[in-house]
Amino acid sequence: MPCPSTSDELVFFVNGRKVIARNVDPEVTLLSFLRKNLRLTGTKYACGRGGCGACTVMVSRHDPASREIRHFSITACLVPVCSLHGAAVTTVEGVGSINTRLHPVQERIAKSHGTQCGFCTPGMVMSMYTLLRNHPEPSEEQLMEALQGNLCRCTGYRPILASGRTFSKESYGCQQKGTGLCCLDQGENDSSSPSRKSDICTELFAKEEFLPLDPTQDLIFPPELSRMAENSDERTLTFHGERVTWISPGTLKDLLELKAKHPEAPLILGNTSLGPAMKSQGHFHPILLSPARISELSLVSKTSDGLTIGAGCSLAQVKDILAERVSQLPEENAQTYRALLKHLKSLAGQQIRNMASLGGHIISRHCYSDLNPILAVGNTTLNLISKEGKRQIPLNQHFLAGLASADLKPEEILESVHIPHSQKWEFVSAFRQAQCQQNALPDVSAGMRVRFKEGTNTIEELSIVYGGVGAATISAHKSCQQLVGRCWNELLLDEACRLVLDEVSLPGSAPGGRVEFKRTLIISFLFKFYLGVLQELKKLVKLFSVPDSHRYPEISEQFLSALEDFPVTIPRGVQTYQSVDSHQPLRDPVGRPIMHVSGLKHATGEAMFCDDLPMVDKELFMALVTSTRAHAKIISIDLSEALEVPGVVDVITAKDIPGTNGAEDDKLLAVDEVLCVGQIICAVVAETDVQAKRATEKVKITYEDLEPIIFTIEDAIKHNSFLCPEKKLEQGNIEEAFERVDQIVEGEVHVGGQEHFYMETQRALVIPKTEDRELDIYVSTQDPAHVQKTVSSTLGIPINRITCHVKRVGGGFGGKVGRPAVFGAIAAVGTFKTGHPIRLVLDREDDMLITGGRHPLFGKYKVGFMNSGRIKALDIECYLNGGCTLDDSEQVTEFLILKLENAYKIRNLRFRGRACMTNLPSNTAFRGFGFPQGTLVTESCITAVAAKCGLPPEKIREKNMYKTVDKTIYKQAFNPETLIRCWNECLDKSSFHSRRKQVEEFNKKNYWKKKGIAIIPMKFSVGFAATSYHQAAALVHIYTDGSVLVTHGGNELGQGIHTKMLQVASRELQIPMSYMHICETSTATVPNTIATAASIGSDVNGRAVQNACQILLKRLEPIIKKSPEGTWEDWIEAAFEQRISLSATGYFRGYKAFMDWEKGEGDPFPYYVYGAACSEVEIDCLTGAHKKIRTDIVMDACCSLNPAIDIGQGLGESGMFLGSSVFFAIADAVAAVRRERDTAEDFTARSPATPEQVRMACVDRFTEMIPRDDPKTFKPWCIPIA
Ligand SMILES: Cc1cc2nc3c(=O)[nH]c(=O)nc-3n(C[C@H](O)[C@H](O)[C@H](O)COP(=O)(O)OP(=O)(O)OC[C@H]3O[C@@H](n4cnc5c(N)ncnc54)[C@H](O)[C@@H]3O)c2cc1C
Ligand code: FES
Ligand code: FES
Repeated sequence: MPCPSTSDELVFFVNGRKVIARNVDPEVTLLSFLRKNLRLTGTKYACGRGGCGACTVMVSRHDPASREIRHFSITACLVPVCSLHGAAVTTVEGVGSINTRLHPVQERIAKSHGTQCGFCTPGMVMSMYTLLRNHPEPSEEQLMEALQGNLCRCTGYRPILASGRTFSKESYGCQQKGTGLCCLDQGENDSSSPSRKSDICTELFAKEEFLPLDPTQDLIFPPELSRMAENSDERTLTFHGERVTWISPGTLKDLLELKAKHPEAPLILGNTSLGPAMKSQGHFHPILLSPARISELSLVSKTSDGLTIGAGCSLAQVKDILAERVSQLPEENAQTYRALLKHLKSLAGQQIRNMASLGGHIISRHCYSDLNPILAVGNTTLNLISKEGKRQIPLNQHFLAGLASADLKPEEILESVHIPHSQKWEFVSAFRQAQCQQNALPDVSAGMRVRFKEGTNTIEELSIVYGGVGAATISAHKSCQQLVGRCWNELLLDEACRLVLDEVSLPGSAPGGRVEFKRTLIISFLFKFYLGVLQELKKLVKLFSVPDSHRYPEISEQFLSALEDFPVTIPRGVQTYQSVDSHQPLRDPVGRPIMHVSGLKHATGEAMFCDDLPMVDKELFMALVTSTRAHAKIISIDLSEALEVPGVVDVITAKDIPGTNGAEDDKLLAVDEVLCVGQIICAVVAETDVQAKRATEKVKITYEDLEPIIFTIEDAIKHNSFLCPEKKLEQGNIEEAFERVDQIVEGEVHVGGQEHFYMETQRALVIPKTEDRELDIYVSTQDPAHVQKTVSSTLGIPINRITCHVKRVGGGFGGKVGRPAVFGAIAAVGTFKTGHPIRLVLDREDDMLITGGRHPLFGKYKVGFMNSGRIKALDIECYLNGGCTLDDSEQVTEFLILKLENAYKIRNLRFRGRACMTNLPSNTAFRGFGFPQGTLVTESCITAVAAKCGLPPEKIREKNMYKTVDKTIYKQAFNPETLIRCWNECLDKSSFHSRRKQVEEFNKKNYWKKKGIAIIPMKFSVGFAATSYHQAAALVHIYTDGSVLVTHGGNELGQGIHTKMLQVASRELQIPMSYMHICETSTATVPNTIATAASIGSDVNGRAVQNACQILLKRLEPIIKKSPEGTWEDWIEAAFEQRISLSATGYFRGYKAFMDWEKGEGDPFPYYVYGAACSEVEIDCLTGAHKKIRTDIVMDACCSLNPAIDIGQGLGESGMFLGSSVFFAIADAVAAVRRERDTAEDFTARSPATPEQVRMACVDRFTEMIPRDDPKTFKPWCIPIA
């Protein structure tokens, strides 16, 4: 087949408009095309890997066979634009707009408070919109499924799901009382007295005000595309790009000819496997063959012995096909299909399943594949086709291992897949365990099948295949052969475990790590299979009155819970908050649950984030080159090859910095030494982002490794490698106290790090002005003044030439306090050198590599206590892994030490903390700033004391909690009244004590599933420990039409600060919020701002706004007095006439805060916030999976400015530490397991409580059976750094 040298026209529709793209580059994704070519920036880039859903759009296609239009969601970041020929794309802009008509999906997600930073919102809207196009009244299951592939870092999902649920006809709540309500709403758990009920609200939005869903208003499928599909053109389409050619044949014959001509060329379907490999593993394919138009690859045929599914069917289609078949077939014939269906529900998210093809899945042969193990045990046949003809090969262990003799020939393609029916006396099961239940690759997956000799429990055929435990999907073929002929009983199970562990051996150094966990899962799954089959066998035996049925082992009632998987359920919840005083005027919005002022714009994609700003004239792109060595001397940097890459303009190195290159020990660009992998060395500037990124790979750096290389806290201690001096607080006489106690326990706690995972990666746009070396910087930051200052010192120009603008930030969580200044400054150097505007957008991989995160912690404690549980002495020593530079590590250590006591008054205390210097990217500010890690140590001590005293942990907590006005360890006066109230209210609302009993009852009855419950108090100090950090300013202008522009020093990070500021201004000026506007935070309007952090932004900026408004109102007072009946507009007009200034600066001098570390005393915090949370969980002891059953949070928000926003903040991050109640509930469940099995109840606590941690702590015969390697004999793939 000749391949034409000119490109065809690519025709598709976007939001009802026809797009004809000529010379389109096959390497361009739909996301890039939408954002750059069409300037539709509502669709966001957040991960670029199909993993987060921020780029979700709807694709519609006409199916000529069924003559139906199919609508499906996809992730635009993985879809090559060339694949869209003949498709209609709908983006968030096409769904609705605040300027024309909102779609109910958009209205409801905003009004249900389902948006915070709003970066995920367009993706959420598109997933829900697509669902409604297909199912206008979706079930809750369909809703969960539709949103499975969408991540939100801010909201905790509940309000998003609540908005989706308003479309569902299904009832709301558990209906426990037969009222249609949930038991949580009112009733037995609500002990508030009737008199208090009047000022308690539960509604955060008014459902009845929502726009109805009217499908007639939706965009219709373009008739032109229907005609195109009906009169299918069999011509081969070719699109030539700079490096890659895309060929889309119209017939199978042409495809086979092309495949014969280009045997190396891959078939591109969903691109969910090829795409990520091309992006990050350097795979390159000059020719891509797209079989999307070949209808033969989508055929499905049902035969009497099985099902043949076209290789081109998407996984979502396969799921529907299987579901239909399962409903038609007798249970015995549908076992393999059921097993596949089970995994298809949790494999990736809906968008990926809509894109990924069955053929692509099988041929990719990912070691973690969920489906291949089941297909293999199910005796699947692959129907291959080439120019030479057809043939079949089995999908067996040889194919999965990639053996040439069992594989496709280069010119062959997979046409379809035949999956046979299962038979009577045959059982098929599927297992998987991932880090979380949905949208996560499995750690281990498995397919298992057994066939018995009819009417017996004698094995005739056995097949066991695992994914995730090697470089390929692995079959335990030999073990299975050996077990044929054996009876299905405990003896067999034991032997099967031993054989399989031997055959599917996993070396200690296996890629991916978690080796012992995986080994345990291998046999835990086998046990589950054994039990499941046994149960089914017993049913059959009963049914057929099989002789000798007494030989079939009994399954203890206690064991049955091993068989149940945790169902995916929609989270539901009820919030109550104090309503405003009934005398508060209606026009006063303070204290009311007002929607986020950007909520609707988030939902329509009209809210602009940094990278949504239109391209400016002569703009260039920057990409960063980072160190690949952990500790090394830079010998040379060779830029020559990089500079030759087409489009490259320059490479910026440290030599180009005109001013200061960061700090001596924390350089912006490395000079002659690197201290970690990911340290920035230089930056490429090019005409496009793709060119810049490509050129970074051509920068050749030679290194000489240096010693020592330190990664772990343990090594840092060994090498005495610390970033700052030890911080210490002490009270009482700890040594003496230890001598007088009944018992002493010592223990360790390890808290892992955490990635900030703000959805919007770090980004900056620097625009030079024409005069006086002025620069405008648009940046996603929590601290624009810091960016401004850093750019000034880097360029060596005064601060007054640099204006930093922040419209809104797509999530910060502390990660955008310090780092954005680095990116802003490097981009500014690029601008300075080239004279061009520069855009720098980190891709997710770079962001995660470079920016660091939460400090991992290693804590040691020694606690002395009386048998009653009263703690008399507590000595805690903490080490933080600070990474390679100081950053905020000293302050994090200080906060950690200051906050370690949490809610407890212990007379004799010693707290010590140090930040270790290691060769890792520098860790930085992170929500809670050391508090969550440290307090986890304190609460772990309490749990350990409880175990020793034989008392429940909540008793120890109560016994040791502050009871009366007292002094903290740093001698600040403290009144625990509110803390105690939160605790008691939480105990009461959660019905803690009765549920504790129920948990115990459950645990007695279930051996393989356990429940746990925990309640945790929290005293969280807000603010910075320095007075100068509490000042804030605002600037309020009133214009002659009466409209008001409010600016203040806080940044909108999704926490709703702008909404709250407008509420404050509205109250103070006594005019509606609709008169007001906040356009951005800018260093030109409010200078010298403090970072929006430390949970005090709304407080201090609110005071500044209040001050400015009060000044203005005072000036207006005489006019208002003179004409009290006048309107606001009249008064403003009069004020202008009378030359009264209508602009005022507001200022708040802030709270006093200080800490004297020498004396160990001070007044470091302005005030505290309090809360308590109770969580109940259930764990699967065989897999380590856990399910949250219920969480109750009581949080004191004082006088909340906006309860909807504050509840949203509380749920998004559970009040800093309250999420730990889930951790301790899991620990409680694990303790129950260990008690029952007579293993030591106290064990080293490791956070996060991953399935691995949980499984390995639940010691049993399987954990004892696995081989353990001598750590000295192998190099592990990963090491814990805390
Ligand atoms: C975010 C994300 C999450 C995921 N989660 C999971 C998960 O939880 N579990 C899991 O098992 N998998 C998961 N996957 C992997 C996913 O299942 C596979 O990537 C997908 O099934 C591949 O199908 P595709 O159509 O996209 O293949 P493509 O990327 O288009 O192609 C992959 C390969 O298959 C070849 N190929 C495709 N069709 C044929 C054919 N008919 N004949 C011959 N060769 C062919 C191509 O030549 C190419 O080499 C995930 C992927 C992503 C991106
Ligand atoms: S899924 Fe596309 S950006 Fe994350
Ligand atoms: S609102 Fe979902 S990521 Fe911020």
